[in-house]
Amino acid sequence: MMLTPALLAFAACLPFLANALPQAASSASTALPTSTAVVPGLNDLARSAGKLYFGSATDNPELNDTTYTSILENYAMFGQITPGNSMKWYATEPEPGVFTFTAGNVIADLAKSNGMVLRGHNCVWYEELPDWVTANNYNATELAAIVANHTGTLVGYYAGQMYAWDVINEPLNDNGTMREDVFYDTLGDSYISIALKAARAADPNVKLYINDYNIEYVGTKSTAMQNLIKQLQADDVPIDGVGLESHFIVGEVPTTIVENMQAFAALGLEFAITELDIRMELPATADLYEQQKTDYYTVVSACMQVEQCVGITVWDWTDKYSWIPSTFPGYGDACPWDSNNMLAHQNYERKPAFDGIAIALQGQSI
Ligand code: XIL
Repeated sequence: MMLTPALLAFAACLPFLANALPQAASSASTALPTSTAVVPGLNDLARSAGKLYFGSATDNPELNDTTYTSILENYAMFGQITPGNSMKWYATEPEPGVFTFTAGNVIADLAKSNGMVLRGHNCVWYEELPDWVTANNYNATELAAIVANHTGTLVGYYAGQMYAWDVINEPLNDNGTMREDVFYDTLGDSYISIALKAARAADPNVKLYINDYNIEYVGTKSTAMQNLIKQLQADDVPIDGVGLESHFIVGEVPTTIVENMQAFAALGLEFAITELDIRMELPATADLYEQQKTDYYTVVSACMQVEQCVGITVWDWTDKYSWIPSTFPGYGDACPWDSNNMLAHQNYERKPAFDGIAIALQGQSI
């Protein structure tokens, strides 16, 4: 279809077509910069540099978007996926003892058919729980059995398919104390070892991780996570890795990421950047896009500097499916690709952030 000026003017009146307009229709002052890097693909670069993968979160509804899947399934670009939601407790054990793996299997099969590394996310988290876990006032004995059964069944079901599991998700408050959720309130910190031991029994080979945010930089919460790891190690509880979520804000990326990674490395375990995105206050500007490029560079090059950082996962690669706008109102544009895949583009556009990642993966300076 030809987009005549008259048609464009008409389309501009329709809110649902706002993203569909070709760039020429927007004024030069609002045009945002795009990637200029010509590289084989981010996963290829990461693997050439000795990392296990560069990957992305993905989610079942997005897989109907063929433009999206054609990029996601390019192994040169993405060598790893994490299900954004479909292996969480509400999705996998919606009723006591009733397990459903249908949605999770779609993600696992996608990984398998593309030769991608799969990270399981997650076994025990205070959010996205089905009501029954909190509503039944289980006592300690009952809840311990429920945690062990949920974790063991989930990890056991996917045994042999997973590289790693986020067995415990977000156990700490920002002040370094244990989060008071149904698990902690009922079982104290024993729920952590109960889950980790159940996971190990269900799959002796998968890497067992604890995943959290605000532990990416030197500070109280990171110290608390290190102390938790040391305690688990002293108690002979299986623990293999730490997930550094890395949900950052443009211009506010911490300056102590490398030093902090070295502290985790010194504990004798691996770690990964598990949920990277770098959001900005909207509207986006060319300056914010350039700063975002620098910020992605900073985070990815930190991982490149510490051997025990095994890989990097972005919390989805296109703004179209990012969780940020709905969770942080007024913020967005957090991903390395934009959200523009309609009429004019038929593709998602790479942002300067993509170049920041590519430069870091090649060990170059920005
Ligand atoms: C988010 C998903 O991306 C959203 O779709 C969902 O509504 C809420 O959870 N930390 C985590 C992830 O460990 O599981 C969260 O994912 C983002 C924050």
